[in-house]
Amino acid sequence: MTEETIKTEALMSEKRVFNPPKKIAENANIVDWEAALKRGEEDLEGFWEDAAKELEWFGKWDKVLDDSGKPFYKWFTGAKCNIVHNALDRHIKTPLKGKVAIIAEAEDGKVRKFTYAQLHKEVCKFANVLKSLGIKKGDRVAIYMPNIPEIAIAMLATVKIGAIHSVVFAGYGEGALKIRIEDAEAKIIVCADGVGRGGKKINLKDTVDKAVAQCPAIKKTIVVKNAGLDVDMANCAWYHELMETASDKCETERMDSEDILYILYTSGTTGKPKGVIHVHGGYMVGVNRTLRWVFDIKPQDIFWCAADPGWVTGHSYIVYGPLLAGTTTLMYEGHPTYPDPGRMWDIIERHSVTILYTAPTMIRMLMGLGDEWPKKHDLNTLRLLGSVGEPINPEAWMWYYKNVGGERCPIMDTWWQTETGMFMLTPTPQTPLKPGSATKPFPGVQAKIVDNDGKEVETGKGGHLAITTPWPAMLRTVYKNPERYKKTYWQEVPGGMYISGDIARKDEDGYFWVQGRSDDVLKIAGHRIGTAEIESAFVSHKAVAEAAVIGIPDEVKGETGKAFVILKKGFAGNAELVEDLKKHVRKELGPLAIIDSIKFVGSLPKTRSGKIMRRVLKARELGLDEGDTSALVD
Ligand code: WT7
Repeated sequence: MTEETIKTEALMSEKRVFNPPKKIAENANIVDWEAALKRGEEDLEGFWEDAAKELEWFGKWDKVLDDSGKPFYKWFTGAKCNIVHNALDRHIKTPLKGKVAIIAEAEDGKVRKFTYAQLHKEVCKFANVLKSLGIKKGDRVAIYMPNIPEIAIAMLATVKIGAIHSVVFAGYGEGALKIRIEDAEAKIIVCADGVGRGGKKINLKDTVDKAVAQCPAIKKTIVVKNAGLDVDMANCAWYHELMETASDKCETERMDSEDILYILYTSGTTGKPKGVIHVHGGYMVGVNRTLRWVFDIKPQDIFWCAADPGWVTGHSYIVYGPLLAGTTTLMYEGHPTYPDPGRMWDIIERHSVTILYTAPTMIRMLMGLGDEWPKKHDLNTLRLLGSVGEPINPEAWMWYYKNVGGERCPIMDTWWQTETGMFMLTPTPQTPLKPGSATKPFPGVQAKIVDNDGKEVETGKGGHLAITTPWPAMLRTVYKNPERYKKTYWQEVPGGMYISGDIARKDEDGYFWVQGRSDDVLKIAGHRIGTAEIESAFVSHKAVAEAAVIGIPDEVKGETGKAFVILKKGFAGNAELVEDLKKHVRKELGPLAIIDSIKFVGSLPKTRSGKIMRRVLKARELGLDEGDTSALVD
């Protein structure tokens, strides 16, 4: 048995079914889940057209779906819109004007709140700042900031004037930041001086300076004073100073439905990350409909997506989705267990959070800290829970369900990707739940498990998780690389389906069980990071000739990396070098690329064409069957 099968058997042994409480199911925004699934299947375009009508458009579409250039699908062609008009402008003409849009809590406990009207003003002001610095429609703005309201303001302001944001997670190191700024050809970067985490102030500005020094296209760095650090301000401007004189009135740019909204980089199987492109029209339709139906947004909700805005989860469900839905979104800047393991529960209690959406790695970490922490707090306001980022093991599911949700909150296990933009496999508050399964495709989404020939496999058998019909929030291309878009997602197996890169199974009830990635992409604490990206960070060190990285199972993080390194002549593989290499990778990629151990080797298993067989390394490491090794050189 392979490690994968063992993992799935364990997952799929979960036979219990949890029915959502009647009160929640009967009052859900989604009226009838089964009927919606049927409608989505029979009338895909009609289903999404209805969803589009919930939003405001400056001009109507000619076509709902244009598949003439597939796989370069287009949605709501000919329509005019702007996602920011729907997320902000339209709300301030309604009673939502005075409603709190963002609750932001810093690690030191300082709370800031922005109503929709206040947020709208800040966004207009910053939009004018960007304009005054020469930013125009179509220009790229890089953003490197912690989980603070200014990141949302910067994103929304960029989009309001028709420019494109490229947010880089502020945990990435200078190498990763530089590649992303360069590829996007960003003209401006908006950052913060630092971030408060775990009682310390971490300097972000230094990383930005080092990256920007290698990116001549950047004209200006705008700095939010957040951590109160003493930073070098050469060729930089303080955010608060620019904002002082900016007007709070700014027209929203009329965009084409298919105009680029943002670029978000994600790891693939080569060292170079892919710039995933999302557009205004389809993305806002998909994100709005999925959030309203899955997390069942009601007027009184306080929605906490405890991710970072730097990932797609944050783009779709901290910033855009909640504002489109007119709800209150919570942003917490600090460490989840600071000053004690009850911090998250304390936040839920103090802010009366009604929906919590987080990741299995977080749940497992909190579970490990003991049941006493959630018990100390009143979590009765919670109505729904969510999970995302990797498969949730039934043990963590049960702990979350009992200790956080008090056995009354259904758990929405949402499977999706940076590329999909919105939830794809997910329950709704009417779906019977099986711990460990993301249940079924969202209405208007079709999925299948297929083999390498693109044929659907039997029930219970593993295969590629494929999406067989287009969906509005789908990525449109890979920035400046349409070939890579076609090859990676649409030509992996025959049949013109979107291949997700995940392996999954479907059970006899039609429920999907996602097992993990089929490619050389690791999931460390829910973060996607390519082994090739880590390897190229290793190879950029002067002592390294070659490196191979594999994922090693980890109880809390899901996976961590183990590196096999061939040294250049004249370098000795000692403890000192191990530390130096770890430091180097951290500097390049940031702390998310956790390298658990480094082993110095004389050779690596390779195919005749010179490709490293990481699968063989992994099997040897874990003491598993090496499988077919006929391609090995020796
Ligand atoms: C990969 C996408 C989209 C949100 C965060 C991650 C894994 C995501 C689940 C889930 C099992 C999941 C997949 C997917 N994944 N959600 N509910 N169950 N696996 O975005 O960084 O683009 O990663 O995360 O492997 O391909 P991402």
